[in-house]
Amino acid sequence: MTYRAIVSGIGHYLPKNCVKNADLPAHLNTTDEWIRERTGITQRHMAADDETTAVMATHAAKQALAMAGIDAFSVDAIVLATTSPDHGFPATATRVQALLGASNAFAFDVQAVCSGFVYALSIADNFIKSGQTKTVLLIGAESMLRIVDWNDRSTCVLFGDGAAALVLTSSDEQGEIANENRGVLSTHLYSDGNGYDLLYVNQAIETKNGRGAIVMNGREIFKSAVKKIGEAVEKALVANNLTVADIDWFVPHQANQRIIQGVIDHFNLPPEKVVVTVDKHANTSAASIPLAMYEAVRDGRIKPGQLVLIEAMGGGLTWASAIIRW
Ligand code: ACO
Repeated sequence: MTYRAIVSGIGHYLPKNCVKNADLPAHLNTTDEWIRERTGITQRHMAADDETTAVMATHAAKQALAMAGIDAFSVDAIVLATTSPDHGFPATATRVQALLGASNAFAFDVQAVCSGFVYALSIADNFIKSGQTKTVLLIGAESMLRIVDWNDRSTCVLFGDGAAALVLTSSDEQGEIANENRGVLSTHLYSDGNGYDLLYVNQAIETKNGRGAIVMNGREIFKSAVKKIGEAVEKALVANNLTVADIDWFVPHQANQRIIQGVIDHFNLPPEKVVVTVDKHANTSAASIPLAMYEAVRDGRIKPGQLVLIEAMGGGLTWASAIIRW
C-alpha cells in the first residue's frame, strides 16, 4: 500500500524588524529605485539576535501544528531546509525539536540552498509514501541577513529572513480525504555541481573569526534561472499529465521579480495565478516558497483540492519542482 503526504497545516514567522530599501545602510550607496527595478524588492524582514533560524522555525511550526490540530508529541519527523543554520552542527532541526517538545520525532536539516524546501518536501513525501512516518513537520527557515556581506551591495540587498512550516500527514490518517487525490503528486530534483562557484559562502558558516558571507555571480545565475526552472516545471507537468491551464496556483521561489517574470513569459502564465511575495520578503532562500504559500492560504487564494505547482533554483546549482493537490 502506498500513502500520500497531505498538507494538513501551515504556519509562518517573519521577524518584527522590517527594513525598507530606503532604510538600508548609507555606506551601500544604493537606491530604492535601483533595487525595485532590478529585483522588485521593496523591503525585507531582518532577524534580531534572539530570532535565530531555530527560533523562527519553531514559531512557524507551532502555528502549523495548531492549524493541523496536532500536538508536537505526535510528530514523527522534522525535516528543516536551511542554508543558514544556527550552528555548523548539530542540525538546527534538533533545536526546533527540543523547543517544540517533539520528543517522538527524529530531526535533521536539508541543505540545497534556495531549492532546499522542494528537496525537503521530496524527502518528507518519500517518508510518508513508504509508510515509515505518518506525520512530518516540514520547515523552511533562514537567517540570510546573517550571512550576507554588508559591504557587497550587489548581494546584501537581495535577501531577507523568515520561516514557514507545513504539517504533512499520511493519507492513511486522513480517512475519506485519501480518496480525493489530495497530497504531494510529484517532486523533481536536479543539481549541477559545475555551477558550485556561481553562488557560495566563502568560509564555514561560523568560525572563531566570524561568519562566512555570500559570494554570487548574479549575471550567470540570472542567465541559468529561467531555463532550468522551465525544464523542471515542464517535467512536473508531463509527469502528471497536466498542462499549465490545469494548475490553479504557481508558487515560485521568490528570488527576483525579473526571474519570476521570465518564467511567466516562458509559459505564458496568467500573472494572477502566480503568488508573488518577493516585493515584501526579498529572497528568503529555503523559506521563500512556504512563506508565499502561507500568504496565499491565509488570504484565501489557495483552497483545498486545488493544484499548486512550486519551483526553485539556487546555489549548487540546484533546481526543483513539485505539484501538490492542496
Ligand atoms: N545599488 C546600486 N547599484 C548597484 C547595486 C545596488 N544594490 N548592486 C550593483 N550595483 C551596480 C553595479 O556596481 C554595476 O555598476 P557599474 O555598471 O558602474 O559597474 C551596476 O549596478 C550593474 O551591476 P550588475 O551586477 O551588472 O547588475 P545586474 O543588472 O546584473 O543586476 C542582479 C544584478 C540584480 C543581482 C541580477 O544579476 C540578478 O538578479 N541576478 C540573479 C541573482 C539572484 O537572484 N540570486 C539570488 C540567489 S539564487 C536564486 O535564488 C535563484
